[in-house]
Amino acid sequence: MSAPLRVPVLLTLLVVCGTTAVVRAETPPINYMLQCQGCHLADGAGSPGAVPPLRNLVGKFLRVPGGREYLIRVPGSAQSALSNRELAELLSWIIRRFGPEQDAANLAPFTAEEVGSARGRPLVDVDSVRRDLLRRIAARDLSSSGPEGP
Ligand code: HEC
Repeated sequence: MSAPLRVPVLLTLLVVCGTTAVVRAETPPINYMLQCQGCHLADGAGSPGAVPPLRNLVGKFLRVPGGREYLIRVPGSAQSALSNRELAELLSWIIRRFGPEQDAANLAPFTAEEVGSARGRPLVDVDSVRRDLLRRIAARDLSSSGPEGP
């Protein structure tokens, strides 16, 4: 094959592969934009007094028993119109996007199976479950942080 013929073939391959990758990678961000951003805002800031921030907080729930399940069972997640797989991918994306960084780095991605089994059990009292988890996160962080460095 002559060189001038090879170029269009390569270009076509690049376009096809590139498009597939982009579409896949954008699914969780698009779901976030359509279903979550209205309350949680694009940068995860939330609204003081109404919607808690995701940024630098959401990943901390993974530090204590029950926290991972809470992220699935909270009404915004559990009652969304997303499939179990989409919600699993979205929650993993949310942790990586909003951190904290150390929790994003340690994340074992959510699976469709775990989402399916936790999601069917609604949280009866979201506020008290949330408060209790935050208390345990604070206690854990306090006991695991050594003396402050210089
Ligand atoms: C109508 C507003 C609203 C929408 C839409 C919403 N959320 Fe939320 N979200 C909240 C509120 C308020 C809380 C605090 C817990 C509660 O009261 O439900 C929360 C808490 C959370 C939490 C736990 C973090 C914490 O600090 O408690 C996660 C995870 C979460 N939402 C994910 C999502 C996802 C994923 C979507 C989209 C599929 C979504 N939310 C859509 C309002 C919303």
